[in-house]
Amino acid sequence: MNKSRPETVNIIVIDDDLNNMELISLYLSGCGYSVKSFSQEIEALNYLQGAESKISLIILDLMLTEISGYELCRRIRSNPRYRFTPILISSGLTDNKDKNAAMEAGADDFISKPIDRQVLITRVRSLIRIQTLYDELIEKNEKLEYAFNKLKSAQNTLINNEKFVSIGAMAQGLTHEIYNPLTIIGGNLERVSLKMKNGKIDNEFLNQIIFSTRNAVKRCAKIVEALETYSAEKINSIERTCVNDILKRVATLFAVKLKMMHSINIIETYDEAVGEIDCDQQALQQAFMHLMNNAAESIGENGEITISTALSGDEIMVRFSDTGAGFKEEDLSKAFDPFYTTKLSAMSAGLGLAVVSGVAKLHNSTVEIKNNPSGGACVSLKIPAGLRLDEKKFTKNLFNL
Ligand SMILES: Nc1ncnc2c1ncn2[C@@H]1O[C@H](COP(=O)(O)OP(=O)(O)OP(=O)(O)O)[C@@H](O)[C@H]1O
Ligand SMILES: [Mg+2]
Repeated sequence: MNKSRPETVNIIVIDDDLNNMELISLYLSGCGYSVKSFSQEIEALNYLQGAESKISLIILDLMLTEISGYELCRRIRSNPRYRFTPILISSGLTDNKDKNAAMEAGADDFISKPIDRQVLITRVRSLIRIQTLYDELIEKNEKLEYAFNKLKSAQNTLINNEKFVSIGAMAQGLTHEIYNPLTIIGGNLERVSLKMKNGKIDNEFLNQIIFSTRNAVKRCAKIVEALETYSAEKINSIERTCVNDILKRVATLFAVKLKMMHSINIIETYDEAVGEIDCDQQALQQAFMHLMNNAAESIGENGEITISTALSGDEIMVRFSDTGAGFKEEDLSKAFDPFYTTKLSAMSAGLGLAVVSGVAKLHNSTVEIKNNPSGGACVSLKIPAGLRLDEKKFTKNLFNL
């Protein structure tokens, strides 16, 4: 900004007492201000309406002829352009009631007649200084808003890039994950056809082929099923349900499974204050099952899984805490990546937490993983209490760029 020539400060004086008007103009012009005076308020209002240059201060008398000073104040303030322009009232009325009424009508300061030159100049300088500071604030605010919008659009670009990267990573992972079982199936068929040519097919060989092919098919099916939820293409209907009820169902289903293999206790603590939300019950149930599986797999033989809910402010906290091995430090940042797994089992595709994260996003919720201070892992979901979902937006594929 060029600061070498000071900007002209334009002041408007409105007073039907010509002597007073001229006196104020004289005092202020003498200080280098550009002063325009009006003895008729309507004329002044018309001028203000179309004024080309910035007006830094308006001085007006309370006792005018056409309309009252209070009304004039209100009309000036009703124009958005003069919402924050300082208005100084000059009046012979010294009663506090008049001063208060003037302030309420939008005036910023009050000066008593007869006008004292020094008092007038001090008040004018102070009001103009405040106005200059205010203008600077507005300018800085506009710059901040501009910078904020630029940052927001940069962030959106980043998020989109991240989506592309994750789609890329996912496509790469998918090729690998599906290619492996397909190679097994293809190999098995080759072995069968070779044996058939030699006429040497026995039951043991066939059982082996069936077992290996069945596992490979199961693995492919598991990947496809998980991906369906992850990409949110398989949308069921939105229903109004209490999360507690879904969790109770998951716990019951899981308890049956656990009893058959392990000695793992499920402890349930539900906050009955948790109300209903809009949700895809099946998707949530699937996400919760993945968390139960992870907890059970981490525990192994003996331990506890605690499922709890709590209504905290406007959020529902759902927690799955286990007494297993806990997350390794290096896994914490990668655990949500599709196909990231530390498990050796052929049935672990590394999609559980990716599904949980996809389902959480669908429900405007967040997931957090951490380890308990006393050991074991804790996965928390924060779901907006009373969540309402728009069916159209909900059904939109998460990867629909
Ligand atoms: N409760 C838990 N305790 C400790 N580590 C966990 C827990 N849950 C997940 N992890 C870690 O995060 C990784 C990713 O979990 P995720 O559920 O996505 O895949 P996965 O369980 O390996 O395979 P999948 O779920 O497809 O069967 C796991 O391999 C494991 O290392
Ligand atoms: Mg898992």
